[in-house]
Amino acid sequence: MAVSTRLDEAQVDGLLDMDPERFRAAAHAAVDVMADYLAAVERFAVFPPVEPGSIGPEFPDAAPESPEPIETILADYRRLVEPNATHWQHPGFLAYFGTTASGPGIVGEMLTAALGQNAMLWRTSPVATELEGVVVGWLRQAVGLPGAFDGLITDTASTSSLIALAAAREAAGVDAAGQGIGGRPDVPRLRVYASAEAHSSIEKACMTLGLGRAAVVKVSTNERFEMIPAELDIAIARDRAAGHRPIAIVATLGTTSSTSVDPISACADIAAREGLWFHVDAAYAGPVALLAERRGPFAGWERADSIVINPHKWLFTPLDASLLLTRRMADLRAAFSLVPEYLRTIDREGAVRDYNEYTPQLGRRFRALKLWIQLRWFGLEGLRRRLRHHLELAERFAAWVDADPEWERLAPVPFSTVCFRWADGSDDDNAAIMDAVNRSGEVFLSHTRLDGRFAIRLAVGNLRTEARHVARAWELLREAAEATAAERDGR
Ligand SMILES: Cc1ncc(COP(=O)(O)O)c(C=O)c1O
Repeated sequence: MAVSTRLDEAQVDGLLDMDPERFRAAAHAAVDVMADYLAAVERFAVFPPVEPGSIGPEFPDAAPESPEPIETILADYRRLVEPNATHWQHPGFLAYFGTTASGPGIVGEMLTAALGQNAMLWRTSPVATELEGVVVGWLRQAVGLPGAFDGLITDTASTSSLIALAAAREAAGVDAAGQGIGGRPDVPRLRVYASAEAHSSIEKACMTLGLGRAAVVKVSTNERFEMIPAELDIAIARDRAAGHRPIAIVATLGTTSSTSVDPISACADIAAREGLWFHVDAAYAGPVALLAERRGPFAGWERADSIVINPHKWLFTPLDASLLLTRRMADLRAAFSLVPEYLRTIDREGAVRDYNEYTPQLGRRFRALKLWIQLRWFGLEGLRRRLRHHLELAERFAAWVDADPEWERLAPVPFSTVCFRWADGSDDDNAAIMDAVNRSGEVFLSHTRLDGRFAIRLAVGNLRTEARHVARAWELLREAAEATAAERDGR
C-alpha cells in the first residue's frame, strides 16, 4: 500500500517517539510549509470566506485508529487548516490589535517546543527561570522603567491583570489566599476602580477572584475617553462612606476601543493618597515607551505597583507573551505561593526563584526564549523603527479621514489606531461598509462603539503592513461608501 510504505517505522510497531532523522525530515518539510505560507500569505482573504459550522464537518468524526504519514497530515494542514484561518499574519490585518508572529519569534517557538521545558520551578528549568529574569530586565530598561520593577512573563494580559489584582487584594490585608472572602463579616465589599473604557479583562479578573463584576467601579471618561480623576475621587469617597474597601485603581494606557490614555500621574497621586494598589494596563500601547520621544503619555507610570505590556501585541511576538512588571513581587507571592513537599527544592544552598509561586498555574512555558531571540534579531533599534513606521501610517490614515468631509474621526489618535465613520451614513450603513471592505479579503477591519455610535477601527500593528495596505483600506472604504450612497439614492 503506497501510503503505509511512507509510514515511519516507529509508527508501525514502535514504542518510542518519531525517529530523530524522521523528525529532521518532517520538521524541514514543516518549515517549508511555514515559509511558503509567510511568503504568499497575501493570496488568502484576511478573513476566510466561511460561515460558522462550515469547517468542523470537513474533519473526521473520530481520531484515526491507524497511524498516518506525516506528508498526508501536512497536506491536510495546507488544505483544511491554512485556508480556514483568520490570517493575523496578513499585512492587511488591521482589526482589533495586531498580533504578528515574527520570523525570529517563530524560530523561538520551534526551539521552545523542541526543548520541552516546564518552567514551573528553577529546578525544572534553570535556564528558563534565569533567562526570564534577564528578558524581563531587558524589556523593563527598554521601556525606561526603574530597576525597582521586577516581574514575570505570563500568557496574556488577562492573566497579568488577574495576578496584579490578586496581589492588590493580598496587599490590602484581607488574607484572601488563606481565608477566602466568602462568609466573612470582617471583610467589607472590595472595590476596584477603572475607567468605563477599561478592558473587559479587569471585570473578568474580578469575576475570577470572587469579587464579582459589581466590585468594578467604572469611572466616567471625558470627551477624549480618558478617566476623569475628579470622578475617581468621588467614587472612592462614596464607597468609603458606604463602608466598602477600595483596593486598587486600574489606569489604561491605550484603551481597547479608542486607545485613549487615562491620566496616569493623577491616578498615581490618588492611589498614593488613598493607599491603593496602582495597576497600569498598557497591554497594547506599552511598546511605544521604547521611543523616548513618545513617552509623554507614560509620565507617572513609574509610580505604578504593577504594569502589563503585551509583547504578543505590538512587539511582534507569537502568542502568547505578556509582561507583568511589578515593584511588589512579595505581594504576588503572598497571593499565589503554595509549596507542597514534592515541589520543594531541598538540594540547593542559594535561594531559588520558582515562578509558579507568583501565578495561579503551576506549569509554565519557556516564553523568555522567543523574546530573547527576537530582541536580539531585531535589536531595540529595529523595533523602534517599526513602531515609528506604524505610528506614521496611522497618522497618515487619520489625516486622510480628517481631510474628507464625508468622513468623521471619532477619537484622538495617540498611537496607531484610528476610529472613524462615514459621516453621511447611519450606524447600519457604517457596519455595512465595514462588512463590504472585509469581504474584499484584502484588508480586515473591526469596530467598536464610541459615545454610543458605531465606529470603524483601523489599527496598524502588523509587522508586514506597508503603506500600500493602509492606502488600499482607505480606497476600499471610500468605494464601499460610494456604493452605499448610490444604493440609497437609487442610482
Ligand atoms: C487594553 C487591553 N488590555 C487587556 C487586553 C487583553 O489582552 P489578552 O488577550 O492578552 O488577555 C487587551 C486586548 O486587546 C487590551 O486591549
